[in-house]
Amino acid sequence: MPELSVAIFATDADQRAVLQALVDGTSVGHTVCANSTLPLSSTDPVLRRTQGFAPDVVLIDIAADQVASALRTVELLHQEIPATSIFVVGAMTQPHLIVSAMRAGAREFVERPTTTTDLLEAFVRLTASRRKPGRESARGKVFTVVNAKGGNGATTVAVNLALALQSIHPSTALVDLAHIGHCALHLNLKPAFSISDALTNLHRLDASLLDSFMARHERGLQLLAGPSVPSAVDASPSDYARLFDMIVGTFHYVVVDASSRLDSATRLASNLAEKILLVAHADVASLWSAGRVAQYLGETGSRDRFAIVLNRYRKIAGFNESETEAAIGAPVLWRVPNQYFVVSSAIDRGIPPMQSGNTEISRSFTALAKLLTKDDMEMKRSAWSLFRTV
Ligand SMILES: Nc1ncnc2c1ncn2[C@@H]1O[C@H](COP(=O)(O)OP(=O)(O)OP(=O)(O)O)[C@@H](O)[C@H]1O
Ligand SMILES: [Mg+2]
Repeated sequence: MPELSVAIFATDADQRAVLQALVDGTSVGHTVCANSTLPLSSTDPVLRRTQGFAPDVVLIDIAADQVASALRTVELLHQEIPATSIFVVGAMTQPHLIVSAMRAGAREFVERPTTTTDLLEAFVRLTASRRKPGRESARGKVFTVVNAKGGNGATTVAVNLALALQSIHPSTALVDLAHIGHCALHLNLKPAFSISDALTNLHRLDASLLDSFMARHERGLQLLAGPSVPSAVDASPSDYARLFDMIVGTFHYVVVDASSRLDSATRLASNLAEKILLVAHADVASLWSAGRVAQYLGETGSRDRFAIVLNRYRKIAGFNESETEAAIGAPVLWRVPNQYFVVSSAIDRGIPPMQSGNTEISRSFTALAKLLTKDDMEMKRSAWSLFRTV
């Protein structure tokens, strides 16, 4: 993740110091100036000085007794330095304030009191949104796979999707975020290292060290394995942000198997993702959970990137897909056929269906990978036709 320069505006000295410490503590943002006054006109020297820094983000604290002037500052900065993203910090208990700040041009409303995680998640969303299709970027696309309910098939989907993506682009990584990782078993790999090693060596992690922590599957897919015992590594969301920064800077496609892990690490991987694939079964308990999981992961603004993958799908009388989509708030993107014998024997042998030939289930994952990378193909095609006309 590129480092973000941040200008802070907070009239209260303590709050200013707290915000500066939090911004610098994310290790993604760094404070370029911390101002004690709120500029209210375009000739204000504080505004000019801020413009000189061309910050990526301005963070404006909205103190309870200064709502009107803080909102005026939001409007002014939005007008005067439109390339800068405005984050405001205020009380979530006042919906009117949130709406007014957003209308004035704020991009993010961060709760007060603020935590490093809140800020980090907002920074990650900003950098992820700058990587939308159409923008030139050398950074990889992330697909995060999460279970609606334990055992719904996240690992099966992640492993086979990663192999299918690998045959589309040779630079594909699978990151096992589960507390006890199963991806290595599915792929019959015996990794010497795991994600815990990468997290404990962040201070010296570069592309070649990352590579040495990964296991290579015979099809070329690189796996950053999950721990084989519950990990003693106590990594913060900032640590995960730095790790993912390195991974998306190295690989073209990154599949994250979060399985049933629901915490700030999965939230971070979801915030970074192009698509969050919620793996569910077409039964009441799983679909009910899918809604809760989407709510938890989408709390910080990523709802529009959720897609449901119905695993072990077969037609069920009375199952209404559009009602399901409305209840969960995400579309059903894909249906993976129910093939218990093929899938369970593949796991037993460590040879995923994607590797073992042309079956209904391997065709399903190939088609899912094509769908998820459709835009990339179209961009490639248009670049090619442009080339031909020159
Ligand atoms: N499409 C499918 N058809 C039939 N059986 C399947 C399918 N997908 C997964 N399964 C079965 O479901 C079981 C769980 O699969 P998997 O290990 O992928 O789940 P998981 O959701 O990642 O589990 P966990 O919650 O433990 O991480 C496996 O034993 C597998 O045989
Ligand atoms: Mg799993």
